[in-house]
Amino acid sequence: MSNYKSQDSRMNTKYAVIFICIVALVIIEKESNILSRVSDKLIQRQTPQQTLQTEDYNNPTHNDSLSVLKMLLSKLLGTKRNYSNLSDKLGNYSYSSGHKHILLMATTRTGSSFVGEFFNHHGENMFYLFEPLWHVERMLTLTTEANNGTVLAGIYRDVLQGLFLCDFSPLEKFISPQPQDHVTPALFRRESSVSLCEEPVCTPVITDVFERYHCKSRRCGPLNLTLAAESCLSKQHRAIKTVRVRQLDTLRPLVEEPRLDVRVIQLVRDPRAVLASRMVAFSSKYQTWKTWAQDGQVPEDDEEVKRLKGNCDNIRMSAQVGLSQPPWLKNRYMLVRYEDIARYPMQKAEEMYRFTGIPFSPQAREWILRNTQTTQVASGIYSTQKNSSEQAEKWRFSIPFTLAQVVQRVCGPTMKLFGYRFVDDEKTLINKSVSLLEERLFV
Ligand SMILES: *[C@@H]1O[C@H](CO)[C@@H](O)[C@H](O)[C@H]1NC(C)=O
Ligand SMILES: *[C@@H]1O[C@H](CO)[C@@H](O)[C@H](O)[C@H]1NC(C)=O
Ligand SMILES: *[C@@H]1O[C@H](CO)[C@@H](O)[C@H](O)[C@H]1NC(C)=O
Ligand SMILES: *[C@@H]1O[C@H](CO)[C@@H](O)[C@H](O)[C@H]1NC(C)=O
Ligand SMILES: *[C@@H]1O[C@H](CO)[C@@H](O)[C@H](O)[C@H]1NC(C)=O
Ligand SMILES: *[C@@H]1O[C@H](CO)[C@@H](O)[C@H](O)[C@H]1NC(C)=O
Ligand SMILES: *[C@@H]1O[C@H](CO)[C@@H](O)[C@H](O)[C@H]1NC(C)=O
Ligand SMILES: *[C@@H]1O[C@H](CO)[C@@H](O)[C@H](O)[C@H]1NC(C)=O
Repeated sequence: MSNYKSQDSRMNTKYAVIFICIVALVIIEKESNILSRVSDKLIQRQTPQQTLQTEDYNNPTHNDSLSVLKMLLSKLLGTKRNYSNLSDKLGNYSYSSGHKHILLMATTRTGSSFVGEFFNHHGENMFYLFEPLWHVERMLTLTTEANNGTVLAGIYRDVLQGLFLCDFSPLEKFISPQPQDHVTPALFRRESSVSLCEEPVCTPVITDVFERYHCKSRRCGPLNLTLAAESCLSKQHRAIKTVRVRQLDTLRPLVEEPRLDVRVIQLVRDPRAVLASRMVAFSSKYQTWKTWAQDGQVPEDDEEVKRLKGNCDNIRMSAQVGLSQPPWLKNRYMLVRYEDIARYPMQKAEEMYRFTGIPFSPQAREWILRNTQTTQVASGIYSTQKNSSEQAEKWRFSIPFTLAQVVQRVCGPTMKLFGYRFVDDEKTLINKSVSLLEERLFV
């Protein structure tokens, strides 16, 4: 009898604990990622023998909180019990209805504007910003004393954090001329952000003088940053594209910020293609490279070559950090090659959305269809490749072989990591039946 009783009260205690956990969880719901932080900490603190059954937790979807609850329950009540069917009992309720924060991290000429559009056109639940750090870079590299990589990285991070939280004030300090009453006509590439060009952020034009006030699709007055922040707060998800963050590990405090649920997508491209593309896009800046190509001689200790090497090393080191899945980045990092997007835009977009935990919207799908000349074959398989991969390979005919060789020497380890094949002679470089891309899965 007394045995029964004590068992009974033990059960009651257990249910009380479960109840408390559930209540706590519901309270935390809106700040759901706090819970995943807690669990990150828990997991970090586990000794190997104590390792919990966290297969569910490792799932990159928005199940985190539930899995963590399961984990906490099994921790509290003894690990013998199996709580994997807890979700059945609680139904389909989402425990992280929270915001997602996507950082598209790239370098110039890697297709990042294009990939940014995948998120820009997600629909009414997305607030997208195109290169806000442009302002910071411009102001700080002008004032040379702040032109220090460490300092710059910290400022980038703070500005990004502000923007992810819909606070424009850290950015505002860098906008020139200084906004008046939080209103500016000078936000870099405002028209590249759907949310900054739609109602109510788009305010009526007062005068017709300033062409640049106007968004592409409609004429808008100068940007009221207060309205922009309000719009940002009203959206479920936020995405920022940037080519200015050099090292992924400088973002650690941002990723660990408990008010954010950050996902980083690093976009990379064959460095030979990037150089070829930059030589066209930034023609005057790359004059030295053209001269070298003509001379057939490249001084490898030249600053230009060192800069190329520095860029490649930064990209590689960032990817190595991401791919090594440190606890702070677990399920928060994805590497994508431009070449794969060119070949399979729809599939890659789906993968990226799946990774972010944001539903792949019909609007985004529609935008991609329209802009990749993707034709949906009856079988449902997307056939796209011919055209966009042709575009993606054009560089093979524009880059002088000498320069391709320099890139291979200087960026060798980076190319190997991402699966870009080396060429030993010019014939191979321009032989289209030779693929320079190894099939790779980055997980
Ligand atoms: C939750 O995780 C399970 C596996 O742990 C997975 O099968 C399921 O699709 C996930 N649900 C959502 C809504 O992500
Ligand atoms: C828990 O139960 C589920 C089925 O409900 C089973 O698939 C899973 O393997 C079990 N986990 C453990 C650790 O026993
Ligand atoms: C899981 O479901 C089975 C069958 O419905 C049930 O017997 C078991 O007690 C459940 N486990 C938990 C932890 O709720
Ligand atoms: C849970 O989701 C599944 C599939 O999305 C659906 O069939 C089911 O009815 C849902 N259950 C509840 C309780 O909402
Ligand atoms: C950059 O600033 C940091 C912190 O103020 C300092 O430790 C470092 O030496 C500086 N680096 C350079 C190259 O000036
Ligand atoms: C900007 O928008 C806010 C919020 O609607 C408004 O209060 C403010 O007056 C606007 N600023 C200007 C200069 O119009
Ligand atoms: C391929 O792309 C080019 C430019 O992007 C376009 O002009 C051409 O019509 C496309 N060809 C096919 C077959 O879709
Ligand atoms: C191009 O490469 C293919 C496959 O290696 C080879 O068979 C072909 O002869 C090459 N074409 C030329 C023009 O070198």
